[in-house]
Amino acid sequence: MAVAPQGILRPIVLWVMKMNNMLNEKRILVVGGSSGIGLAVARHALQNGAHVLIASRKASERVGALPDLPGESIETHAFDITSPEDPPRLFEAIGVIDHLVISVRPETTPSPFETMDIDEAKRAFETKFWGQYRLIQVAQHHIRETGSITLTSGIAGEKIYKGASTMAIINSATETLCRVLAVELAPLRVNVVSPGFVEPKPKRVQERANQFPLRRLASMDEVASAYLWLMASPYMTGTVNVIDGGARLI
Ligand SMILES: NC(=O)c1ccc[n+]([C@@H]2O[C@H](COP(=O)([O-])OP(=O)(O)OC[C@H]3O[C@@H](n4cnc5c(N)ncnc54)[C@H](OP(=O)(O)O)[C@@H]3O)[C@@H](O)[C@H]2O)c1
Repeated sequence: MAVAPQGILRPIVLWVMKMNNMLNEKRILVVGGSSGIGLAVARHALQNGAHVLIASRKASERVGALPDLPGESIETHAFDITSPEDPPRLFEAIGVIDHLVISVRPETTPSPFETMDIDEAKRAFETKFWGQYRLIQVAQHHIRETGSITLTSGIAGEKIYKGASTMAIINSATETLCRVLAVELAPLRVNVVSPGFVEPKPKRVQERANQFPLRRLASMDEVASAYLWLMASPYMTGTVNVIDGGARLI
């Protein structure tokens, strides 16, 4: 006979069981899931019984090189978020999904505002902000009403760091887009995860993390669990799930 969990374990075990139920056999599309945070979300979703679709420019070659991912529960699609043709083409190929996660990283080098190359800033906007905007305009018609969209912002959207103006503006625009969409696309739920500093990072950033309230960087797994939690929480919409070990407070 199974023994019911007691004490502090009980709510944790019940939450894991509930999340398993919520995501089991759901179709979860992770755009930008071929590495980093998106790949960690894909792994967690697979562990929760989901069918995972990964879309990015090099999805097949990058995910294909990871032998530990079960081929029968995962599919990859070549997709460039900066291409207006790619969202309709992608959904024509994949059909209906339950949840959409977007964790695409734009290529931009931190630089003081004074000398920031405006063309590079525009390309970063095109990738991270306008890319998701265009994608969601198409995706909204292919996500089940009970499903969700989870976007990615980042600590620079809230705390000002010198040299990070481009990501600051993109991230705060993403959080505003989330609130707009939570109203306009309801009952579809729309949320954002805002990570702080996630492993691995150069030594100087690791040292800086000693000053955070939680005195360390986040692991990819910890950040991934913030996305899973939002997907599996049927009353969460229009929120920013900050996971930064308190870094924004100091
Ligand atoms: N890591 C952190 O410490 C941190 C902190 C705060 C916020 N964030 C945010 O979290 C998000 C993910 O970051 P990450 O660290 O996980 O980055 P990452 O490891 O570099 O992964 C980025 C993903 O974006 C995809 N991608 C890039 N350009 C694309 C395009 N044009 N079309 C489609 N996919 C594209 C890449 O795949 P392909 O190369 O295959 O296209 C890859 O799967 C970013 O928005 C970042 O700003 C990260």
